[in-house]
Amino acid sequence: AGASGLARRVIECIRRLDVAHLELFFFSTKHTMKVFVTRRIPQEGMAILKQAGICEVSVWDSDEPVPRSDLLKRVEGVHGLLCMLSDRIDTEVLDAAGPNLKVISTLSVGFDHLAIDELRKRGIRLGYTPDVLTDATAELTVALLLATARRLPEGIQEVKSGGWSSWKPLWLCGYGLSGSTVGVLGLGRIGLAIAQRLKPFGVKRLLYTGRHPKPHAQEVDGEYVPLDTLLCESDFVVVSCALTPDTCGLCDKAFFSKMKTTAVFINTSRLGAVVNQDDLFEALSIGQIAAAGLDVTSPEPLPTDHPLLTLTNCVILPHIGSATYSTRATMAKLSANNLLAGLTRDAMPSELKL
Ligand code: GLV
Repeated sequence: AGASGLARRVIECIRRLDVAHLELFFFSTKHTMKVFVTRRIPQEGMAILKQAGICEVSVWDSDEPVPRSDLLKRVEGVHGLLCMLSDRIDTEVLDAAGPNLKVISTLSVGFDHLAIDELRKRGIRLGYTPDVLTDATAELTVALLLATARRLPEGIQEVKSGGWSSWKPLWLCGYGLSGSTVGVLGLGRIGLAIAQRLKPFGVKRLLYTGRHPKPHAQEVDGEYVPLDTLLCESDFVVVSCALTPDTCGLCDKAFFSKMKTTAVFINTSRLGAVVNQDDLFEALSIGQIAAAGLDVTSPEPLPTDHPLLTLTNCVILPHIGSATYSTRATMAKLSANNLLAGLTRDAMPSELKL
């Protein structure tokens, strides 16, 4: 299948008189390009890489991250690198790879694990996976919000531990979405998808904040408000913004102190670093806010003795926003196609312009 894939590409180039690509293919038959994949990924992605027939693929064949020392060895001389959000791709890795490296494809929408300035300097192209994980992440956000607001983990625990003695009028009460005000920090692609899913639960007002008003906010009757207004008026505060110098540590003591004591805080954004976790712990412990649901933490994984894990009003998930079988398969296919396009100097399906 590999050889016929290459043959098809060569015939296509001859047809288009595309000399630059023809040279590349003849080069690649003599000196196969090397690719390193830093983790076991859905087979749909591997199949695309193998069937292309233009590269020799080596994989860190494990569900666990490649140790740093192995990463540094395995990248030596590669032309392409397919990596995960948990791999730190910095100058040291790029130096270890050497000058052959022309493309990095990350199996994530986020790219803060990559030394972007260095990639730009070295002319290394970058592929990523936006859009394809929007729906899965928005669904997970709704699930986490409901689980946190309606105290599902606590309820499940009570059933298992024998704490369920009877139906009790005041037991395990939480907060509902009907008639509520939801505030979204960062109404980007994922923020909008979250708002679209929450609205049908009977949300009365949808507030949002960010650097600029968004025309697509109309689709959810979103009201663009200052951050302080959003914090004072929202029953649910959902963080769905990028990690930038402006948003790093944004959710701190002052932030939580402006929220209602009955409000629920949800973070399914790219990273836990948006939240000051010490301040969140304090806010949850003293009843400054009602509850929090986090799909991202700092660090990841969160140490099992972390104080946040002692709280019943804090629900923490292990960064599973995009974890549906079909979304991960689609991400794997997209990142494989991004990588191949980088190797063959073609337009990538999803390139981050550096
Ligand atoms: C998840 O955090 C991603 O960036 O894909």
